Amino acid sequence: MKGIILAGGSGTRLFPLTISVSKQLLPVYDKPMIYYPLSILMLAGIRDILIITTPKDQLAFTELLGDGSRFGCCFDYAIQENPNGLAEAFIIGESFIGQDSVCLILGDNIFYGGGLQKILMNSVKAVKEENKAVVFGSYVQDPFRYGVVEFNKEHTVINIEEKPEKPKSNYAVVGLYFYPNSVIEIAKKVKPSKRGELEITSVNKEYLLNQELMVEILSRGFAWLDTGTHEALMEANEFVKALERRTGLKIGCLEEIAFNYGWINKKEVSSNIQGYKGDYYCYIRDKVLIDVS
Ligand code: G1P
Repeated sequence: MKGIILAGGSGTRLFPLTISVSKQLLPVYDKPMIYYPLSILMLAGIRDILIITTPKDQLAFTELLGDGSRFGCCFDYAIQENPNGLAEAFIIGESFIGQDSVCLILGDNIFYGGGLQKILMNSVKAVKEENKAVVFGSYVQDPFRYGVVEFNKEHTVINIEEKPEKPKSNYAVVGLYFYPNSVIEIAKKVKPSKRGELEITSVNKEYLLNQELMVEILSRGFAWLDTGTHEALMEANEFVKALERRTGLKIGCLEEIAFNYGWINKKEVSSNIQGYKGDYYCYIRDKVLIDVS
């Protein structure tokens, strides 16, 4: 399975923070924001990853992440000229995806929760073995800001609406989507919505119509954070800080994941973090280089 991170958009809701810096490069406590969605793809076992950015931000992303070999991965880069919507990622990424299945994650979404790795692995399996699309619903208090799931009395999903004025439930569709290869052709047929975007919700509705959509509900213990406003960004910072300080474990440490999955060895980790100082360096030194566990 291939992975795509969509890190485009102009980040206008965070201006002036994002006038000269891409939103997905802003810090979330001790790492650039994109480390978190990247860690999710890596935890799902995905190593071939396309990073889609705006034209002006591409250089900064390549400077940060390179060709991915530092993390035992292979990164490609592509440009989304205009914020034409999430579904455009599959059109831009067509040749990168090739004949494979694909997981799309938004560059500003953060996920945390026990059992996450298993959920990710099961989703990859459902796509590969059952040819299903897999999306996730998470309970939120402001569903009108998202794609929203509608259930019938039997708790079966019967519809998904994009940013509805009157949401039919509190379950928002999160920015993590697993699809079979057919998503490329489906995305090509999507017509722009009222806000002029190729909506991912239109793609999901097509799978739902064909009875090929699995909507997994994330349980209460799960945290799905988005970083679209100053408040939400600050909350994400505080969330990561509190968890990391309490547990002594880092969320979204790419070197640690790559090492634990056997994609890079100690020697490679050590040379990759040369020049690092401070907390992030000490963590890797203690957790990976001196293996005390
Ligand atoms: C997008 C999707 C929406 C989804 C959300 C998750 O919204 O269109 O369906 O629930 O991401 O973050 P946007 O970021 O375009 O407002």
